[in-house]
Amino acid sequence: MAIEKVAVIGAGVMGAAIAAHVANAGIPVVLLDIVPADAKNRNMLAEGAIAALLKTNPAPFMHKKNARLVTPGNLEDNLDLIADCDWICEAIVENPAIKQDLYKRLEGVRKAGSIVTSNTSTIPLKSLMDGMPDSLQKDFAITHFFNPPRYMRLFELVGGAKTRKEALTALRDFADVKLGKEVVDAYDTPGFVGNRIGIYWSSVATRSAYDLGLTVEEADAVCGKPMGIPSTGIFGLGDLTGIDLGPKVIASMLKELPKSDTFAKEYDPDHPMVKTIETMIADGYTGRKGKGGFYRMNKDGGKKVKEARNLKTGDYAKAGKPDLASVKAAKKGLRALVEYDDKGGEYAWAILSKTISYAASLVGEIADDIIAIDTAMKTGYAWKYGPFEQLDQLGNQYFIDRLAAEGLPVPDFLKTVGDRPLYKEEGTDAFYMTVKGDYAVVPVADDAWMLADIKRGREPVMSNKGASIWDLGDGVACLEIHTKMNSIDQDVVAMLQEAGKIDKKGFKALVIGNDADNFSVGANVGLALFAANAAMWPVIENSMSEGQNALMKLKYAPFPVVAAPAGMALGGGCEIVLSAAAVQAHAESYMGLVEVGVGVIPGFGGCKELVMRAILNKKRPGGAMPALAAVFEAISTAKVATSAAEARDMLILRPEDGISMNRKRVLPDAKKRALAMVEGYKAPEQVEINLPGPTAAAAFDMAVSGFVTMGKATAYDAVVSAAVGRVLSGGDTDITQPVTEKKLLELEREGFMKLIHNHKTLDRIEHMLTTGKPLRN
Ligand code: NAI
Repeated sequence: MAIEKVAVIGAGVMGAAIAAHVANAGIPVVLLDIVPADAKNRNMLAEGAIAALLKTNPAPFMHKKNARLVTPGNLEDNLDLIADCDWICEAIVENPAIKQDLYKRLEGVRKAGSIVTSNTSTIPLKSLMDGMPDSLQKDFAITHFFNPPRYMRLFELVGGAKTRKEALTALRDFADVKLGKEVVDAYDTPGFVGNRIGIYWSSVATRSAYDLGLTVEEADAVCGKPMGIPSTGIFGLGDLTGIDLGPKVIASMLKELPKSDTFAKEYDPDHPMVKTIETMIADGYTGRKGKGGFYRMNKDGGKKVKEARNLKTGDYAKAGKPDLASVKAAKKGLRALVEYDDKGGEYAWAILSKTISYAASLVGEIADDIIAIDTAMKTGYAWKYGPFEQLDQLGNQYFIDRLAAEGLPVPDFLKTVGDRPLYKEEGTDAFYMTVKGDYAVVPVADDAWMLADIKRGREPVMSNKGASIWDLGDGVACLEIHTKMNSIDQDVVAMLQEAGKIDKKGFKALVIGNDADNFSVGANVGLALFAANAAMWPVIENSMSEGQNALMKLKYAPFPVVAAPAGMALGGGCEIVLSAAAVQAHAESYMGLVEVGVGVIPGFGGCKELVMRAILNKKRPGGAMPALAAVFEAISTAKVATSAAEARDMLILRPEDGISMNRKRVLPDAKKRALAMVEGYKAPEQVEINLPGPTAAAAFDMAVSGFVTMGKATAYDAVVSAAVGRVLSGGDTDITQPVTEKKLLELEREGFMKLIHNHKTLDRIEHMLTTGKPLRN
């Protein structure tokens, strides 16, 4: 069955954002909530939630227009809106009795065969279905999203004894393909996989910080980056998610967990850390949404100061930068961290010894295997490594020996593992250890894989320090950039040139993509700065020509080239995307021409491509000027699209370009797209466009000088913008003379070279390299 219309019930933190994400998939969704006592507007909760979603940052909607797909309503007047929905997702208060009341009401209204699910964080399906009619039980499952649902990739799916297989398959496919989620099949146990381990981890991490006498800042410095955990650490995470959430989830978990469970046994309601949290909540210190939390922002003489709470006294003082030798040692790995003899090392060991042991004792009980557990922690809690990957870094034998030496229990599963790794690679396969202690192949689906799955055990077709070309099979090659942050240097340009003639090696199509967080952050400006400081002007100009030529070759290649961006594709990275015959982008692609931030203009054909698209756009309203003005604004303000959907508005993606919601489907989808283009493929024809010339450039200059007068732009912004304007308007032309691509590329080079001679541009580059932020000089 296909899911084509969805209802979400409960327009709170989760429900509203789940509805937004369903809308991101292009699926219509009904959002219902209760009618509050004496409400003037009976839909106020759902309508208010949609209005709030549109203001939330990071944005729950991938495009503001997606809000139109969400129909608000209330449970008293509009329950009939669920009648034609294929999936009804309940996301109301975490209270089994209230949830069951709602389920009973749904039974008379929903259509036969529709699926009902709960987004509960902790309550097992059996409890929710206790006493419910069979008709509901066969259509019921748990679909557990993580907060925020657009960005956290985990989707835990739990079926009950009576749940129809087709319902689970439909949910699994929908979550994977349409919502882009990493689906983890979890068993029906309290807290499922992510929260079962995550809640224990957070309880251990807070309690141990208190017991071992670490400050809030010290604890976060250890239980953050060094352990592959987001830099919010443990206390910063509490502030972010809301400190009041913790005790509620813990209470709900303890109610559901068997008495024999380690967490249930260890949990001490009288522990001073538990009391500290209770006091904080009672005083309104619930985190960022309240008066503050473990950290708070305070004003001191008009300046904002970040303060941290003393866990023992409750006083706040300026947050310090902890200086723990163990944190420095962690650069050598997790083992070096836990072996370091200071309170940081001791703290790391306290957390890892307990969390990994707990996870190991639950393999086979909460999910089939270690992959499910590692995936849940990586995609639901944003850990870089799951507990079993952490264990491989420590070495299982070391781990169990140390547990034994300290008189701590050693989980049976880990005794079975012994001195073997949990994961290993052999030939072209990856293996994981099963609960029984054998190795099994990590499954890779035909239509969902990463480049790593292609690369394993194979050699590239060609390679240099900056980039490689791989064989994706079926005659499709893949160009992978692999420099630091995937910036573009001479090696990358050289490999782009090779990719432009990959048909000579028997390939019939090319995909450009990689597995990194970011497709490419653009040209390596450090090299440009070095060359400029040494006045190596011909070198700079030559490297620009080479980049332009390489991308022109790709654009006019006799075979299809498909760019497959994900994450940031900025500056030169965006220009690679712009030069491809087609694009298959990850929905979470952040693309834009940001060169003005470092005082230059796009010089690898970015100005040229956008100006041509703007002029040739059949749907553009009116004359050339409004279309050019939109491109001018985007380039001269370094605008970045915050999703692939927004990139369409900016003409970076064409209407026919594809978007994949699931990161693991980007390359397979790009390969499919490339193959579909092969038959009868012809390189695009060169076209010329008519541009208005200096009159348009003058109009742009005037607009910018207005911003300078208002103090919204600097005088040097105006200089850089003028260079952008000159290219976009076609240089010294007029509307009757066609401008060639070659001419536009020349104008790009000319503008770029002029700016790179200016010390203010060099200051911008240097500032970007040292601080990572643009300088507004
Ligand atoms: P919330 O408190 O923000 O929203 C709950 C919604 O339920 C409110 O809009 C409220 O008006 C509605 N509601 C209250 N009584 C109701 C009734 N009698 N009938 C129908 N609706 C009623 O809660 P939140 O955080 O959105 O949680 C919703 C569900 O999602 C819970 O089961 C929770 O455990 C789960 N969850 C929460 C996560 C989080 O981070 N907040 C993460 C994952 C799951």
